[in-house]
Amino acid sequence: MVIFKHMKQNMKHYSVFLSSIFVFYCLFTIIEGRKFHSSCKKHHKGYGHSCNSTTIFNIMSFGAKASGVSDDSKKLVMAWKSACKVPEGVVQIPLGHKFLIKPVTLQGPCTGHVTFQIDGTLLAPSKIGSWSKSNLFQWINFKWVQNLTIQGSGIVDGQGYNWWNPMKSKHISDIKPTALRFYASEDITIRDITINNSPQVHLKFDNSRGVKVNNITISSPGNSPNTDGIHLQNTRDVEIMYSNIGTGDDCVSIQTGCSNVHIHHINCGPGHGISIGGLGKDKSIACVSDILIENSIIENTLYGARIKTWQGGVGLVKNVTFSNIQIVDVNFPIVINQYYCDKSLCQNQTGSIAIKGVNFDKIVGTYSTQPIHLACSDEIPCTDIDLSDIQLKPSRGPLGGSQLQQALCWNSYGKSKGPLVPYSINYCLRKGGDDSIHPISGSSNELC
Ligand SMILES: *[C@@H]1O[C@H](CO)[C@@H](O)[C@H](O)[C@H]1NC(C)=O
Ligand SMILES: *[C@@H]1O[C@H](CO)[C@@H](O)[C@H](O)[C@H]1NC(C)=O
Ligand SMILES: *[C@@H]1O[C@H](CO)[C@@H](O)[C@H](O)[C@H]1NC(C)=O
Ligand SMILES: *[C@@H]1O[C@H](CO)[C@@H](O)[C@H](O)[C@H]1NC(C)=O
Ligand SMILES: *[C@@H]1O[C@H](CO)[C@@H](O)[C@H](O)[C@H]1NC(C)=O
Repeated sequence: MVIFKHMKQNMKHYSVFLSSIFVFYCLFTIIEGRKFHSSCKKHHKGYGHSCNSTTIFNIMSFGAKASGVSDDSKKLVMAWKSACKVPEGVVQIPLGHKFLIKPVTLQGPCTGHVTFQIDGTLLAPSKIGSWSKSNLFQWINFKWVQNLTIQGSGIVDGQGYNWWNPMKSKHISDIKPTALRFYASEDITIRDITINNSPQVHLKFDNSRGVKVNNITISSPGNSPNTDGIHLQNTRDVEIMYSNIGTGDDCVSIQTGCSNVHIHHINCGPGHGISIGGLGKDKSIACVSDILIENSIIENTLYGARIKTWQGGVGLVKNVTFSNIQIVDVNFPIVINQYYCDKSLCQNQTGSIAIKGVNFDKIVGTYSTQPIHLACSDEIPCTDIDLSDIQLKPSRGPLGGSQLQQALCWNSYGKSKGPLVPYSINYCLRKGGDDSIHPISGSSNELC
């Protein structure tokens, strides 16, 4: 009896023990099951791995040498093609490594969204001779890509020093490569990265739509020729913000076919400021509209807020606002130049692109040559120009004010509103000149 009782108690303990094991086993199975479903899977012949819906393709797993000397272009293209085939692909350029990349085209369309994660450094060939002569237009060419994000703390280095030297580059070609170019692409975000030392333009969008550039750095020496920061052409719905751009040419250059461009919180300099144009070269057609540039600093540049057109072009620039721009030590802070010419002398041409509706509002700071230079065409005046709250004082440069020029407004109509410094700006614009007096010629309206 005693023994039996003892056994019964033992049995009770035993079953508690067994059921606990069962419960643990079940829990374990559930946890393991979850883990199994989300565990990092090897993908695509072992090149990629994914821990959820995103699949990461590290350039190293394609056999990149990462020496900065041997050519890793093919590995980059392989990583791109793989990422382009999955719903959420990531191309990874890892931190602490340098990859020499020759000119490549990374082509879409892709299956889904692609992230280009640059934490390491991409290097362009530094010797001009190692560029293929048949492809000097650009270094990294994104073509027909939709829905791409380029991000990371890494550097895209164009190593353009030799291209900047006319002795070394002139007998090769007149064309110099753009570092990153997007062609016929849509919904592109570029953030956080640094783009340095391009042979020519650093970042170019061509025939594209839906562009966001946020928190990037673009940098090359102030004396490097034609090294525009960001170049927009036939591109609409653009936002460029919170970025530092200092180069040897325009920080941002807006060319024909651009509309709905919003630029804000930019530090620009050194360079040639933020410009629209040169438009209408060789009597070409140009249309630019709905451009807003605001809340930015332009420092130590040749120009500030500028519109430039060649004589003889056709088309229309309308609805452009430069607002709340801090100017520090800029030669020509406010410019419209319809006699743009990149040599010392250009032939006079008949006809001009019309310019209508340009606001310069709250442009404040210091200049070193001429506060305002509005040189509109003899034939078609600029109309609806607004100057409000312009306060520009001579900077205390080495010239000590000896070369300062008066504000110039040639064939420019519109209104001005104080405060205006220097005071002569009050008399600069001609009054009137609205549509009834200077209707935009039919051809400009039809073309644009
Ligand atoms: C998927 O995993 C990656 C890295 O493994 C991570 O960066 C990303 O945030 C994850 N995405 C989701 C939606 O959890
Ligand atoms: C872009 O990718 C995101 C994330 O995968 C997706 O939600 C969005 O619908 C895509 N947009 C387009 C236009 O394909
Ligand atoms: C901007 O980019 C830098 C460099 O990649 C990064 O460290 C920083 O966190 C970014 N800032 C924001 C607000 O995203
Ligand atoms: C002028 O351009 C701005 C900025 O792109 C836009 O918000 C506004 O609607 C445009 N105005 C007109 C009259 O089209
Ligand atoms: C263009 O015309 C201006 C006067 O309108 C004249 O001073 C200048 O010499 C002309 N330039 C050329 C290259 O013919």
